[in-house]
Amino acid sequence: MQVIKTIDELRSVLKNQSNIAFVPTMGNLHAGHIQLVEVAKQQAECVVVSIFVNPLQFGPTEDLASYPRTLEADCEKLKAAGASIVFTPSVEEMYAEFDGNNLNQTMTITPPPIANELCGATRPGHFAGVATVVMKLFNMVQPSIAVFGQKDFQQLFIIKQMVRQFNLPINIIGVDTVREPSGLAMSSRNGYLSNEQRAVASQLNSALKDIVQSVKSGNKDYSQLEKNAKSILNSQGWLADYVSIRSSLTLQPASSTDNDLVVLGAAKLGNTRLIDNLTFNI
Ligand code: PAF
Repeated sequence: MQVIKTIDELRSVLKNQSNIAFVPTMGNLHAGHIQLVEVAKQQAECVVVSIFVNPLQFGPTEDLASYPRTLEADCEKLKAAGASIVFTPSVEEMYAEFDGNNLNQTMTITPPPIANELCGATRPGHFAGVATVVMKLFNMVQPSIAVFGQKDFQQLFIIKQMVRQFNLPINIIGVDTVREPSGLAMSSRNGYLSNEQRAVASQLNSALKDIVQSVKSGNKDYSQLEKNAKSILNSQGWLADYVSIRSSLTLQPASSTDNDLVVLGAAKLGNTRLIDNLTFNI
C-alpha cells in the first residue's frame, strides 16, 4: 500500500489504471469505513482511499480543530483491509488558493436546495463544502466507482445528484450503515461520547426504529410521529435537531402515497451531534 500526499504523485501512480474504486474519508477510521473498502475491493483491484479533513465542510463553530486525526492507525487498518493507495493531501495541496488564513477564494459547487434542509438547515454551507471536495477528489483520482456510507444519507443523495447533473462517469455505491451491537451507527464522532453517553446513544436509533414500526403498522400521521420522536429524545436528555420522514427516492417530505421511505434524525447528546437514518418500504 502506498501513502501519497501530492496530486502530481497520485496522477503519475494512477495513470495506467483504468478501473479504480475510490473511498473518500476524513480518517479516524472505524469498521464502517473498512466495510466501504471491502465493497470497493469487490469492484476493482485498485482501491484508493482518501483521508482529508475538509475545512470547507465545517461551520465556524464546528469541530474542525478537534476532529480526530489518526493517520498512522488509519494506514495500518487500510493496509490490513487491502487498500492499494492512501491519498492524504494537506489543506494547501487540496486548496491551492488557501492563504493559510481563509478559503474565501475557493470556487465551490452549489448543490440543489435540498442541501439547505435536514442537516443543511443547521449546517449552512456544509454540503457545498462536501460536494466541492468530492468533485475535486473525483478529478484527482478519476475513479470509475466511488463508495459512500448510507449513514450520511443526505450526503449520498447530493453526491448522486452531482454525479448525474455533471455527467461524471462514476458509479456511486451506497453501503449499509455498520452499527454497534446496541444499534448505534458507527461514526468517528462517537469517540467524543463519554461512557455514560455511549450507553444511551442508541436511543436515536431506537426512536427511528419506533417510527418505522408505526408507519409499517399503518400510521400515516408523519408529522405527529416526527414530533413525538423529537419530544421523546428531548425528554431523554438529547437536544433533537430534526426527525423527518421522507421519500428515499426524492428526499422530499413523504406523502401518504410514497412507498419508498427513509426516516432521518439528528440530535445532540451533550456537545456531540449524531445522525442516523433507516430506509424502509411500505
Ligand atoms: O463522509 C465523509 O467522511 C466526508 O463528508 C467526505 C465524503 C469524505 C467529504 O469530505
